Amino acid sequence: MKIGIIGLGYVGLVTSAVLADQGHLVVGVDVDSKRVEGLSCGRNPIYEPGLDELLAKNKDRLQFTTDYAKLSDVDVAFISVSTPTVNGEIYLEYVMSASKSLAKVLRKDSLIVMKSTVLPGTSRKVREITGREVVSNPEFLKEGSAIKDSINPDRVVIGSYTKEAGDVVESIWKFTGAPIVRTTPEEAEMIKYAANSFLAMKVSFINEIANLCERIPNCDVNKIAEGIGLDKRISPHFLKAGLGWGGSCFPKDTLAISTFARSLGTPLRTVDASIQVNNERPKRAVTLLKEIMGQLKGRKVCVLGVAFKADTDDTRESVALKVIDILKEEGAQVVAYDPKAKANVTMVSMEQCIDESEGVIIATEWNHFKGIEDKLRGKYVVDGRRLLDPSKMDLTKFRAIGLGTPSIQGE
Ligand code: NAI
Repeated sequence: MKIGIIGLGYVGLVTSAVLADQGHLVVGVDVDSKRVEGLSCGRNPIYEPGLDELLAKNKDRLQFTTDYAKLSDVDVAFISVSTPTVNGEIYLEYVMSASKSLAKVLRKDSLIVMKSTVLPGTSRKVREITGREVVSNPEFLKEGSAIKDSINPDRVVIGSYTKEAGDVVESIWKFTGAPIVRTTPEEAEMIKYAANSFLAMKVSFINEIANLCERIPNCDVNKIAEGIGLDKRISPHFLKAGLGWGGSCFPKDTLAISTFARSLGTPLRTVDASIQVNNERPKRAVTLLKEIMGQLKGRKVCVLGVAFKADTDDTRESVALKVIDILKEEGAQVVAYDPKAKANVTMVSMEQCIDESEGVIIATEWNHFKGIEDKLRGKYVVDGRRLLDPSKMDLTKFRAIGLGTPSIQGE
């Protein structure tokens, strides 16, 4: 098939590479000319494990352009542009602008596939605007394991108005061997928000349990997570207590569905509570540091990790950045280190970051920060991601999320 991919970000680029690898001819379109120029010269703008190799391997089947006219002969056009939340509401301008551009160039019988995360009813609007058949096919990949997730998803959700249109999309993803869930477009759109909200809720739940564990002698939230996670009805995933969720999806998607639900007079109270719990997480790291270090004013603090999670260079809505802001408000001098991501703060090597500072907060769960207990000797340390072994730490200068305080543990 000849396939168009509109929007060459994390989702669009991974989808382009994976579908080219399946033998399709792929035309990727983005409005960002620098991005397109770079991609055309073999420069991948994002860090995602395995993506460089997959793009290089399939370069003969991949074309990148800013010119929508190059989509005039594609069979299927995937929309994978960003759908941010602005003032708590989903911002659909990019989707609408892409749809209008597609309406001008696509063949009448071409199919539009909505991969961007959009509220129920959006695919219907795009169908009206473009006069083309539209199928909702939400994306569930995770940055950091995006290629693996795309090739081997837990399920593929396909929401279509007509059986024929759904069948075309099903034929594209058949190679994954994953269960296919056929739905209406509205159901498919809702599944994406319900999935992200549920996962966000799980994390906020275990983080509240973590707060409680910190007040109970001999009570480590990791053990609680293990003990409940083995229950198949609960499952062990997304039960890692820490500084909370960030990134380009959970914060914006929970807000968007919450505002949408309220507008329909049916507030999602569990989702609202999860957002509230999550908003308090960055402060928790700084509070724990102050408990062991006292005042932070004028003192140097190192933040390890600025990416919103490990194995990505993405810092969108990163909890680490919020931790940095709160530290600065407290008057601390902040330096940071991340193996891949950059932030608007003094970035130095890991050794320098730790050596120069009195206090250290681990804010991202990079493997690089495992086993560094020796390097942290003499420092005040807050382990916000539970990477360190408490038995190797000086407990008078150490706090970890969801681990009882040393004075309580010693009783
Ligand atoms: P991104 O921000 O990395 O990339 C979006 C790209 O779209 C940018 O390169 C931008 O220049 C381009 N763009 C914007 N307007 C355009 C237009 N009119 N025509 C052509 N290109 C245009 O976004 P990302 O992270 O790939 O997300 C895309 C969608 O997928 C969003 O709806 C997101 O919620 C959803 N999603 C993202 C996941 C992730 O992990 N990043 C996972 C699952 C879904």
